[in-house]
Amino acid sequence: MCGIIGYNGFRDANKVLIDGLKRLEYRGYDSSGISVIDKKQQIFKEVGEIKELEKNLPDFKGSIGVSHTRWSTHGAVTKANAHPHLSTNKKIAVVHNGIIENFQKLRENLTKKGYKFLSNTDSEVLAHLIEDNYKGNLQKAIFNALKKVEGYYAIVVTSTDEPDKIVGARKDSPLVVGVGDNENFLASDITAFLKYTNRVIYLEDKELCVITKKDITIYDENYKTVDKEINLIDWDISDAEKSGFAHFMLKEIYDQPDTVNNVLRGRVSEVDQYIEFAEKVEKELKPDLDSIHIIACGTSFYSGLVAKYMIEKIADIPVSVELSSEYRYFGTKKENSLVIAITQSGETLDTLAALKEAKNSGCQTLAITNVIGSTVTRLADAYILTQSGPEIGVAATKTFTSQIIILFLVALKLAIKKGTITSDELYNYILNVKELPKQIRQVLEKSDEIEKIAETLKHAHSVFFIGRGINYPIALEGALKLKEISYIHAEGFAAGELKHGPFALLTKETPVIAIATKDFTYDKILANIGEVKARGPQVIAIADETDTEIEKHADFVLRYPTNQTILTSIPITVTLQLLAYHVANLRGCSIDKPRNLAKSVTVE
Ligand code: F6R
Repeated sequence: MCGIIGYNGFRDANKVLIDGLKRLEYRGYDSSGISVIDKKQQIFKEVGEIKELEKNLPDFKGSIGVSHTRWSTHGAVTKANAHPHLSTNKKIAVVHNGIIENFQKLRENLTKKGYKFLSNTDSEVLAHLIEDNYKGNLQKAIFNALKKVEGYYAIVVTSTDEPDKIVGARKDSPLVVGVGDNENFLASDITAFLKYTNRVIYLEDKELCVITKKDITIYDENYKTVDKEINLIDWDISDAEKSGFAHFMLKEIYDQPDTVNNVLRGRVSEVDQYIEFAEKVEKELKPDLDSIHIIACGTSFYSGLVAKYMIEKIADIPVSVELSSEYRYFGTKKENSLVIAITQSGETLDTLAALKEAKNSGCQTLAITNVIGSTVTRLADAYILTQSGPEIGVAATKTFTSQIIILFLVALKLAIKKGTITSDELYNYILNVKELPKQIRQVLEKSDEIEKIAETLKHAHSVFFIGRGINYPIALEGALKLKEISYIHAEGFAAGELKHGPFALLTKETPVIAIATKDFTYDKILANIGEVKARGPQVIAIADETDTEIEKHADFVLRYPTNQTILTSIPITVTLQLLAYHVANLRGCSIDKPRNLAKSVTVE
């Protein structure tokens, strides 16, 4: 799970590559490296963040090169293990994202042949293997080398013997081509080159691509050239920049009124009473589905849990939600059920593998993702885009709320088809979902108030989040946000479960965040707050703005705007995102790049 970029054009390669790496840094940030051709491979690597590489980088001349930001899987974090890796003859430079599973065997064979290894990584075998297969044509050497490789990869390669070209190849790891004028790019992600071009070619698994300054040639898995479509991306470079915010995460939290509007745009109308998706999606949303299985990881898994409440309530279809890493090996794959994979990046390996299993068992599949052209969009029978723009902060925020809204629309669509919703109910749901951008703005205006509450949490060692019904997964997500960016231990619980064990951990030093909604669970949550308070902790309630009772029960109250319970999960989520952000900021944490985490988990 690393970021790679290759550049071939007329600009200073050093600058383009460093700039691209900074935009890919969310994919990994333990070490990085760059190699630019000027007769020889000029190579430089550094441990730490990209700014360390930039600070010490020699002034390499040249306009063709490759670079890499690493999140280590094989081998410690050292300069030697950072990419690019050079072949033994020092002519070939390789950057790699993925895992070469048979690297030990390949390494032994290559060592016997006299190739010299300088690192402990699996990736280095590629450089020597390509040299071993080289007979005057770089792409042919790579094609032949990759036949011997087991595992998955996105690679970008240069050679001083053919200094006018860069070759890229992918299998199960992302790699896209940026099409410029007299310059071309290869990168893990569009954001790396969006500043220069918004024209993109998506590579399929086992395809290989040769870019010169002027031309792009793509070969299929049989080494036949193929014509590929150039796609126009409507993301703006400002979407991939901080626009004056202190952190990407904060900007992305503030993006949410717009991203929610984007999700809804063209898909709903209360006047004409429709919910509309692309034709392919509509076909998957059959009214006679026996069940729906949702698969996802992390935050996306929690949006699946939220969706379970929505789909079961509105469309009356049973929904199971499973972690992709479990489903892939143990999940039941039933006929006439729909498998929905939720993945912001579209590249999470466990989710892709689980989706493949489901497909192989004959299930119909639908993906919900933020990244057009990502692997999941090619794997699933149909997909829906969350249209949130690039999310750079490692902690997912705006894509979570967009996923929930897409799934809410899926619930409405199924309910219309099944006839489980009246036209008045539909009208009200749509009116209420359209209120959300305004309601999110109201929450954002409370940022200072939320920061004051964050002050009370900043020295906590452990924080509990409790909620009932649809707010149970929101409590889980609130806890995940807090733990991943502030490093405070946090757990989310279904409020009724506290007394079945977790109470043992409660002391007055364990603040509890209680989500209280004005529905039939309200008295129950008040009772839970009472049980908590009896054990000494401070309670921070997240409560409806019309709630006149809550102050008597909680120590602090943060208010969210009134809506139907099923939709209040959105403003409540935004409140919890801001709370986590402020706590982490007050603690001076690395908010956009939390330790040990990477944005896109492309390893098992
Ligand atoms: C947490 C977070 C992760 C991701 C998870 C799945 O803030 O971002 O838990 O949600 O790694 O990623 P995607 O959605 O890309 O499959």
